[in-house]
Amino acid sequence: MTEQTNETLILAIETSCDETAAAVVSNGCRIKSSVVASQARLHERFGGVVPEIASRAHVEQILPVVREAMEQADVVPEQLAAVAVANQPGLTIALMVGVTAAKTLAWAWQKPLIAVNHIHAHFQSAMLEQADTIELPAAALIVSGGHTNLYDAESCLELKLLGKTIDDAAGEAFDKVAAILNLPYPGGPSIEKAARQGNPGAIAFPRTLLGKTSLDFSFSGLKTAVLYHCQGQDMKGQNRVPAMSPQEIADIAASFQAAVVDVLVEKTRRAVEQVGARTILIGGGVAANGALRQAMESLAARQHLRLLIAHKRLCTDNAAMIAALAYHKYRAGLFAPMSLEPKATG
Ligand code: KG4
Ligand code: ZN
Repeated sequence: MTEQTNETLILAIETSCDETAAAVVSNGCRIKSSVVASQARLHERFGGVVPEIASRAHVEQILPVVREAMEQADVVPEQLAAVAVANQPGLTIALMVGVTAAKTLAWAWQKPLIAVNHIHAHFQSAMLEQADTIELPAAALIVSGGHTNLYDAESCLELKLLGKTIDDAAGEAFDKVAAILNLPYPGGPSIEKAARQGNPGAIAFPRTLLGKTSLDFSFSGLKTAVLYHCQGQDMKGQNRVPAMSPQEIADIAASFQAAVVDVLVEKTRRAVEQVGARTILIGGGVAANGALRQAMESLAARQHLRLLIAHKRLCTDNAAMIAALAYHKYRAGLFAPMSLEPKATG
């Protein structure tokens, strides 16, 4: 058993999409355990997440995953300061499983309950296991499967939304373009892998910037441009993509990825200017992308800014980031009632 110390231990649960996750984190930054049971194999043949399948798999996985997180951390319930859960945004019937589990455990163990916004928690991934402290204000970019948001971060609990996607999220565009190119699900890592063999300058795909000052995003035109490019190879107008050589696929993947990266970098640059940021903070699954990380490093170096970006393994959904944000809410006394409900939006 862990020795008695003055550390604040929080157990967090994450079930917003297709990962059943639980973690125990100390003082909001040191990961004692982080268990993630991915359902990717269950959804693969549908090319996307099926909510009913996700919910059922969460029900099966949640207790074993929580037990494993507690065992790996070598922690007993009495040592916990609180139980936290991501209650928004996400698939309601998936969130419901985590919220019900967290409420039950908090009640049974007589611990306070903390509700965490999954999107805001993604930023905490960049702070986990890092000695760096954040210099505020920060221009904070979330690039995930469901969201592409830019914030003015005045603190981890004060995020002002500056811009968001008006159609597809960046990760969604990666997933849809991967489907067009017949690359395996989830699409982001597949595109990145194919792009390594391709020429990012091969095809001039559009960079949609929505005007000179806008901080909103639009990726659906880019996705359609990829589809037309593929169809246009020999069957324009039909809703089928002809067979392509591995080199053609690699060039399309690299050119698409370059277009997404250019847009994300330009919008982040604008946000930095607008809020007078000293730090760029990036989170979400797409932040695992090597080309994006490199481009953001160059932007930060050019503008003499700090760049806080999560370790690759912490970019995608996990519960450690939920526990990290919960720690700040714990310190601020922001607890949730037992009537807490899941919420699809947020
Ligand atoms: O943050 P996340 O795990 O889940 C959501 O909250 O949505 O993000 C998942 C998204 C998926 O769209 C996936 O294709 C994308 O992140 N992704 C990537 C990479 N790894 C994951 N996109 C580009 N390059 C990657 N290496
Ligand atoms: Zn996420």
